[in-house]
Amino acid sequence: MSINRQPIGIFDSGLGGLTVFKEIRRLLKYENLIYFGDTARVPYGNKSKETIVKYSKEITKFLLKHNVKLIVAACNTVSSLALDELKKEFSIPIFGVIEPGARRAYKKSIKSIEKIDNYKNNNYNSDVEVNTIAVIGTKATIGSKAYSNAISRLNNYDKGANITIIERACPLLVPLVEEGWIDSNITSEILKYYLQPIIETKPSSIVLGCTHYPMLKTIISKIIDKNTEIIDSGKEVSIEVRNFLINNNMLNTTLDKPFEKYYVSDDPEKFKLLGSNFLGKNITEDIEVIIDFL
Ligand code: DGL
Repeated sequence: MSINRQPIGIFDSGLGGLTVFKEIRRLLKYENLIYFGDTARVPYGNKSKETIVKYSKEITKFLLKHNVKLIVAACNTVSSLALDELKKEFSIPIFGVIEPGARRAYKKSIKSIEKIDNYKNNNYNSDVEVNTIAVIGTKATIGSKAYSNAISRLNNYDKGANITIIERACPLLVPLVEEGWIDSNITSEILKYYLQPIIETKPSSIVLGCTHYPMLKTIISKIIDKNTEIIDSGKEVSIEVRNFLINNNMLNTTLDKPFEKYYVSDDPEKFKLLGSNFLGKNITEDIEVIIDFL
């Protein structure tokens, strides 16, 4: 099979990565896609780095056996704690979600700072603190400081602007989304509690640093200042993957209906049922269960 027709491999600790799958499919209509959700071992967000690296390597080997042309680690926790190790061990292109999300947030801040500089003499007032960027995620992602390190790296290479990053772990949000409590008052109250210290800083953007949080975007937009941009790292990585495929002549140019294959490590029925919410469409394909990785 020519490299162009080889599938893109996408993996996550469970269901959440389907929000990234959805974005990739939206931008890349003809790509063959393989998804692996580690539903037997989810959540990763409260596990140690060693465990997350071990699981991620196992899944990468599994995807390689399926002849993928590149891999997207859709999970923020994996991208924070295991991406460097994966890149060291495997030569295939592997994309994580942290850098793309960080890049978007940084660009937003810098653009706003430049705008203010241009209007300085005209008493220009911004509704948000342009130098402040907020990030929410699992305990593991926030504890790793992956987003703040990525934003600081960009800033050091570039302008050296005075940027403040406020990060907050929101561990209750994943189980709430998994239970389908998207529109509930309880979820809204919990979000208000988590977001309060962030709202006070009036950030220019808030990065949704977890696969599940795009499902809460509508409630978050009602709580947060309307001038704060809500950044979906899954959307950003999809744009980078598309650009990479174009620049490296790796796009699937055949216009046949592409295949979508789903693998999980446990409970395919639950994946099918809940996964459709994340994907925004019914999963009609068979879902294969993989118990033995090696
Ligand atoms: N997929 C994880 C992430 O984006 C959230 C679920 C988990 O904790 O495994 O960080």
